[in-house]
Amino acid sequence: MPRQRWYAAKGRRPHLRYVASWDVPTSESGVRVRTVLVTDDGTLPAVTYQVPLVARATASVPSALGPHVIGHPDPGTTLIDGPHDPAYATALLALVTSGGVAHGRHTTATGHTVSSAHATAAADAHTSSVLTGEQSNTSIRYGFDGDASPVICKLYRQVHHGRNPDIELNVALSEARSPHVPRAVGWVEGDWPDPTPSDPAGTGSLAFAQQYFPDVEDAWRVALRAAAGGDDFGGAAFDLGAATADVHRSLAHVFPVREAAPVDRAALREAWQRRLSTAVAEVGPLGQARRAIEAVYDRALDVDWPALQRIHGDYHLGQVILVPGRGWVLLDFEGEPLRPMPERVRPDLALRDVAGMLRSFDYVAGSVRLDHPDRANAVREWAAIARRSFLSGYADRAGTRTTLAGPLLDALELDKAVYEAIYESRSRPAWIVIPLRAIERLIADATPDLPPEGAQSASSSSASS
Ligand SMILES: Nc1ncnc2c1ncn2[C@@H]1O[C@H](COP(=O)(O)OP(=O)(O)O)[C@@H](O)[C@H]1O
Ligand SMILES: [Mg+2]
Repeated sequence: MPRQRWYAAKGRRPHLRYVASWDVPTSESGVRVRTVLVTDDGTLPAVTYQVPLVARATASVPSALGPHVIGHPDPGTTLIDGPHDPAYATALLALVTSGGVAHGRHTTATGHTVSSAHATAAADAHTSSVLTGEQSNTSIRYGFDGDASPVICKLYRQVHHGRNPDIELNVALSEARSPHVPRAVGWVEGDWPDPTPSDPAGTGSLAFAQQYFPDVEDAWRVALRAAAGGDDFGGAAFDLGAATADVHRSLAHVFPVREAAPVDRAALREAWQRRLSTAVAEVGPLGQARRAIEAVYDRALDVDWPALQRIHGDYHLGQVILVPGRGWVLLDFEGEPLRPMPERVRPDLALRDVAGMLRSFDYVAGSVRLDHPDRANAVREWAAIARRSFLSGYADRAGTRTTLAGPLLDALELDKAVYEAIYESRSRPAWIVIPLRAIERLIADATPDLPPEGAQSASSSSASS
C-alpha cells in the first residue's frame, strides 16, 4: 500500500485493521476475486481503503501480470493487485452493467445499472486496462468488440458512508441531459460497519462507471502545451467558462439552493482563518502578508453573497476534457479529497469553482515559467487572456445578474493560493513561488482605491495576471 499512488499517508507505515470483504463470482476456475476493506489507523482521522485482490494458481498467472503480483499467501497461490487482473475487471463490469449482489463477511456489494446499453456488450468480449497517470482513485477502461461506446469505471480507494457526490451529481446531470458530463452507466454500493463507534454501519459508494472518451487529454496537459508554445487558449477558455456556468445552472435547478445564513459566513471565515494560520506557521514569507490577506477576507464577509448551491468542489484543468464534437465535459465531482464528506455535499459558493479554475490557469503559466524563466512576460499574458476569457464566457451564460469579479472572488482565490502555499511547501518547494506570487498579486489587485500612503499599488492593480 505505501507504494501505491492512491495511498494517502505517503511515507508512513500503514496500520491496518480488517473491516469487511466480499467475493464476486468469476467463471475462471481456480481464480478467486475478493475485495477487502481495511482501515488505516495510522492517520487521523482513520481512512478506510478499498483493495480488490485476485488469487490465482501460480502456474496460471499470465506474465503480463508480473508487475502487479503482491505475493504468495501460500505455496502455489499468487495474489494479484485486482484492477490489473482481467478476472476482477470483468466481475466489476458485470456487477455494474447487470446489477446483482455480492455477499461477504460483514458486507454486501450491490450493482445499480443506469444505462442498460452496456449489459449485452459487457457479457461479450471486452478489453480492460488500468488508467495510468496521477490519480487519487483507480480507473479501469473497457473497450468492446461491437459498437458499444467505451466505459471507464472508477474504483473509489477511500470509501465513506453516504452516496459519493461524484455519482450523485453526474447521475443527476446525466438525467437532466446536460451535455457537459459523460453519461452514467452504473455504480456499486456496499454496506459495511463503520470503523468509528459513532456510526455503527451504513451504505457507501464503491465504484462508478461512465461513458469513456478515448484519446482525449485532460485540459491541464493541453493548456500547458498551449502556454509553452504561445498558442491561443482564449476561445477554449471562453467556452469552458460558458460550460461551467451551464453546469452550475443545471445543479441549481436539480438540487436545493438556499440563501447564505450568518452561520455560513462564520464557517467560511473560520475555515479561511484556520488555513491562513497554518500557512503563516509553515511558510515564512507569508507572515508579512497576513494583515493584508485578512483585509481581503473581511471585505468578502461584508458584501452580499449569492445563494448557495451544489458545486463541483475540486475544479481545475485536470478535471475537464475538451471532447471533439461535444465541447467541454466535466469529470470527478467527488469534491476536495481532504475535506470530510459531510462538508463536501453541502451547498456552497459557485464562485469557489470559478476561483479554482482561475488558479489553474495561473498554475499553467507558473509551471511553464519555472522551466523557461525568459518567457515570464509571454506566459503572464497567456494566463491573463485565459482568465478574462473564462470570466466572460461564464458571465455570458450565467446572465448579467451574476457579479463575478469582486471581494468574494478575490477572497476565494486568495484562500486557494494560501492552500497551495501550504501544499507546495510540504511537497514541492520549488513550486512555492507560484502561489506566493499569486498572493502578492491578489492582495495588490484587491486593494481598495485609496492605497495607504507610500504604497505602490497603482501599477500592480492594472496587472490582472
Ligand atoms: N469519462 C472519461 N473520459 C475520458 N477521460 C476520462 C474520463 N474519466 C476520467 N478520465 C481521465 O482520467 C483522469 C482521472 O479521472 P478522475 O475522475 O479525475 O479520477 P480521480 O478521482 O482519481 O482524480 C482525468 O483527468 C481524465 O484525464
Ligand atoms: Mg480528478
